[in-house]
Formats: sequence, structure tokens, C-alpha cells
Amino acid sequence: MYNSFENKNILITGGLGFIGSNLAHKLLEYGANITIVDNLNPLYGGNFYNLGNIRDRVKVVISDVRDSELVKPIIEKSDYLFHLAAQVSYIDSLNIPFEDLDVNSKSTLNILEICRKFNPAIRIIFSSSRMVYGKADKSPITEQSETNPLSLYGIHKLTSEKYLLMYYKDFGIPCTIFRITNPFGPRQQIKHNKYSLVGWFIRQAMEDKTIKIYGDGKQLRDYIYIDDIIDAMVLAASSKEAIGEILNIGSGNSTRFCDMVSSVISCVQKGRMEFIPWPDNYEKIETGDVSVDISKLHRITSWYPKHSIQEGIQLTYEYYKNNYSYYVPVEEK
Ligand SMILES: NC(=O)c1ccc[n+]([C@@H]2O[C@H](COP(=O)([O-])OP(=O)(O)OC[C@H]3O[C@@H](n4cnc5c(N)ncnc54)[C@H](O)[C@@H]3O)[C@@H](O)[C@H]2O)c1
Repeated sequence: MYNSFENKNILITGGLGFIGSNLAHKLLEYGANITIVDNLNPLYGGNFYNLGNIRDRVKVVISDVRDSELVKPIIEKSDYLFHLAAQVSYIDSLNIPFEDLDVNSKSTLNILEICRKFNPAIRIIFSSSRMVYGKADKSPITEQSETNPLSLYGIHKLTSEKYLLMYYKDFGIPCTIFRITNPFGPRQQIKHNKYSLVGWFIRQAMEDKTIKIYGDGKQLRDYIYIDDIIDAMVLAASSKEAIGEILNIGSGNSTRFCDMVSSVISCVQKGRMEFIPWPDNYEKIETGDVSVDISKLHRITSWYPKHSIQEGIQLTYEYYKNNYSYYVPVEEK
């Protein structure tokens, strides 16, 4: 099944980050030729250390994905494009609205224009987010549920989705869109708490700190372990049925926020939690309970997640125990 990647040229934008680097490790096992374009913007999770022992077998171009002149020749010769580079923080999206628009919408349009002119057969996988749904009025959320994003991040991800679907319909550029819930696992940034909270909490527990929970912590979230995401992306990229589709990707089992934190504390055996009021700027964009239907992805690719949240937290903790110093900024050590 995965022979489809052997000797194929694959571009991963944002490939030094959490999802992109885990994907690079997997695709290299399948014999792909990988090029990464990443600008290592310090706000995000780009980290050379994420490549580990594959560093010499992957071509890395340190540049902005918005640089058309630079990405054009790479796109021209690529069979697959995983477009993961993003302004990832939905919290920050209101502070840097035009940057968010630029990176999360315009870069996709830019890429699609290059594809249309120079390589319309390229297979695109795009990382969208559950944030496009906003506050769900019905649960579980299916791909047909209404989209009412509460943040510019969600609006701009949704705009990218629309571009991709239009370019598929009008120009036949094959794409698959993943609406990712709450991913976690090794190689995730733990520098700050603006996104990727599981990793951040593991760090806090390792440092024996108090983990602050907004509100009562009862909100449901769907946490999905990274290896399960990578499996799904790889399967979808090799599936004809996934072309032109939007796919939810989550574990399919939601967990209360405070239970996730309890699992972290009991795994690390350090740290404690404290409940505090919601900050104003967070409450406005809080989505409430999230529970997603992942049956479409299962139907199309036969994928099913293999890791429970507890297993995932254990594996993630072990990773940071061995690699802590590569993920925590020097000045904070
Ligand atoms: N982490 C999450 O909670 C989450 C949830 C849903 C969807 N997603 C999406 O998944 C994708 C990957 O996110 P991640 O979790 O791996 O985050 P990450 O921060 O680890 O990776 C993002 C990467 O993109 C790079 N990047 C940012 N702007 C760039 C630009 N202009 N040009 C080139 N590179 C740039 C960063 O340097 C970083 O390496 C993103 O599209 C994100 O929106 C993430």
C-alpha cells in the first residue's frame, strides 16, 4: 500500500515542526525523497532536533512558504505536498491578523496558483483544524456540521479549505483536507502554552509546577496521539477515495480537560493542578465541549486510532524525559 511513496518527491511545508517532522520520519521509511520548507519562526515549533537521525537524508530549505520564487521549483517537481506550515496559535491570530491571513490563507492560494500553472497533478494534503467549526450546536461534530469559526485562525483555515476544494473542482488539483482536533506527542513544541497543551502540561509536571486550569476544567476535548495522525495522513495520501474530501481526525473519544491533566500528573508523578477563572481573551473563543465523528476517515481509509490518551501521554513523557533540553529554551533551563 505504501509503495506509492517509494522514490516519490515529497514537499512538507512546516516540516521542522511537530506534525511535519513526524511525517518526514515516516515517509522516509517508505523510501520517499523529502524536501522541507520551514522558516523556523521562533513563535512556532520548528526545531532541527526534530529530524534527529534523518537530518542528512532530508533536504531542508530554511525559508518562508510565502516565497513563491523559492517554492515554485520545488512544487514543480513534487508528487506530494503536505502543506502544514501555519501560524498555529488561534489565540495569537487576533493579535497578528494580517500575518495569520497571509500564512494561513494566502500561502495556500499562492501554492495552488503555482500548482495550477506548473504541476496540477500534485497530490495535496492540508492540515486544517477543528477550529473551523467553532462552538458546535450538535455532537458529535461531522464534516457536514456547520462551520462558524470563533477565531481568525479558524476563518483563515476555512478559507484555505475553500481554495483547495475550488481548485480541485475547477482545475482537478487533488487535495485532502484534515480537520485535526487536539494533537499531542513527541516533537511538539513545549516552549509556550498558546497551543499544544498536553506537551506543555507534561513539561509543567516534569518541573513540579502547578498546572492552572481555566474554569471547572470539565470541557471535553478530543486528544489524538501523533502516530495515529501520521498513519491517517499517509493512508489518505495514497487513497483515491480521499481526494476532494474533508476528513475529521481525532481519537473519536473525548476526555474532560481536567482528566487529561490528571493523567499527565499521574504519569509524571509530579506537579499539581489549580482551577482559576477564564481570562477574558480566552473565554470569547472557547468552543465548549468537542466531540468529533471520525467514521468518514475510517470508512475511506480503514484507519482507526491505536493509542489511548494514557498510552500517548506515557510515550510523550518518555520522549521529553530523554530529550528535555532540546525543547526548553536555554534561558528557562
Ligand atoms: N498543534 C495543534 O494543536 C494543531 C491543531 C490542529 C491543526 N494544526 C495544524 O497542523 C499544522 C502543523 O502544526 P504543528 O502542530 O506541527 O505546529 P508546529 O508549530 O510544530 O509546526 C508548524 C511549522 O510551520 C513552520 N512555519 C510557520 N510559518 C511558516 C512560514 N511562513 N513559512 C515556513 N514555515 C513556517 C514553523 O516554523 C513550524 O516548524 C498547522 O497547519 C496547524 O495549523 C495544529
